[in-house]
Amino acid sequence: MAQVVSNTKVVLKGYVTGFPKESDLIVKTDTIELKLPEGSKGVLVKNLYLAADAHMRSQMSVAEDNFVETYIVGEPIHGYGVAKVLESGYPNLKKGDLVWGIVGWEEYHINNAPESTLFKIEHTDVPLSYYTGILGMTGMTAYVAFHVVGNVKKGDRVYITAAFGAVGQLIGQFAKALGCYVVGSAGSKEKVDLLKSKFGFDDAFNYKEEKDLDAALKRYFPEGIDVYFETVGGKMLEAALLNMRLNGRIAGIGMISQHNLEEEEGVRYLLSVITKRLTMRGFIVHDHYDLIPQYHELIVPLIKKGTIKYVEDVAEGLENGPAALVGIFQGKNVGKQVVVVARE
Ligand SMILES: NC(=O)c1ccc[n+]([C@@H]2O[C@H](COP(=O)([O-])OP(=O)(O)OC[C@H]3O[C@@H](n4cnc5c(N)ncnc54)[C@H](OP(=O)(O)O)[C@@H]3O)[C@@H](O)[C@H]2O)c1
Repeated sequence: MAQVVSNTKVVLKGYVTGFPKESDLIVKTDTIELKLPEGSKGVLVKNLYLAADAHMRSQMSVAEDNFVETYIVGEPIHGYGVAKVLESGYPNLKKGDLVWGIVGWEEYHINNAPESTLFKIEHTDVPLSYYTGILGMTGMTAYVAFHVVGNVKKGDRVYITAAFGAVGQLIGQFAKALGCYVVGSAGSKEKVDLLKSKFGFDDAFNYKEEKDLDAALKRYFPEGIDVYFETVGGKMLEAALLNMRLNGRIAGIGMISQHNLEEEEGVRYLLSVITKRLTMRGFIVHDHYDLIPQYHELIVPLIKKGTIKYVEDVAEGLENGPAALVGIFQGKNVGKQVVVVARE
């Protein structure tokens, strides 16, 4: 007889408009049989760590296009996490393996598409929670943005928004290591100070204190920006367009300021793309997952040596998951927002 255990989960209460609230999510407990259904090719896992990520906001709304797979009301939400395999019908994973990838926000989860959504953890001599961030999806995002899309060169003047986020903190360190002039913006004095003191940014500013973003960028980039790592969108993108140099590059990573608006802001100054001969390229990180081994080869030794710094913001327990997730849209997270389910 399979063991039946309680299973606490975070469930979507209803589709969200505007800023998400804790009350849009319900924490509830029911039971699960710790056994895969007969003939299943899926994987039963025990979740350890979950990532609160910006893309999850799009999945909380009614789908507007075919590119976003929305959550199902009444079902657990899902996202990136770290888990231990309890039973596997998938030949490439076995009981006891540690994995990172897509899991439900619940204690125990069955992933029915492990071949495309779960990755075996090969390096276990680093904190496992890092696979929710620097060693997982957001780390790969920084790597692709910098090494594949950004076309950054030594001496470039680089601007990074949401710079204290999981992606931004890493891009800034890559850019400094290459010999760039790096400025980041973030939403609090604490984050601005840490960007300079911990991550070695040349400068940083609190965008919430700037009435005129164009003037702020002119102050930090009197000669203009060569590469802009775009994570915010809206008015910030407009200000960046006005301050790009000839032949500048814009890596389109995300537009977090637009996720909670009922209608996206229109962006002015797009003519700059032509007059300044800019290259603007967006990407979705999972199209580049073939580069994971190459990225891990680079980053794991740097983490172990302490050359690369990384800051997490850790929430304990699934019951604190809703607050952690909605908090990233108000900038409450100081570093990568992790939710601990179990520390096994
Ligand atoms: N293309 C891809 O495949 C891909 C993959 C991963 C992430 N992304 C995108 O990359 C961006 C950064 O993700 P992340 O994981 O680094 O973020 P994160 O660690 O989750 O942090 C998000 C930060 O964004 C800032 N923010 C929130 N609302 C904002 C607003 N209205 N205006 C300006 N800043 C705001 C907040 O910091 P402040 O205190 O600074 O406001 C918040 O702490 C997001 O846009 C995300 O969607 C894209």
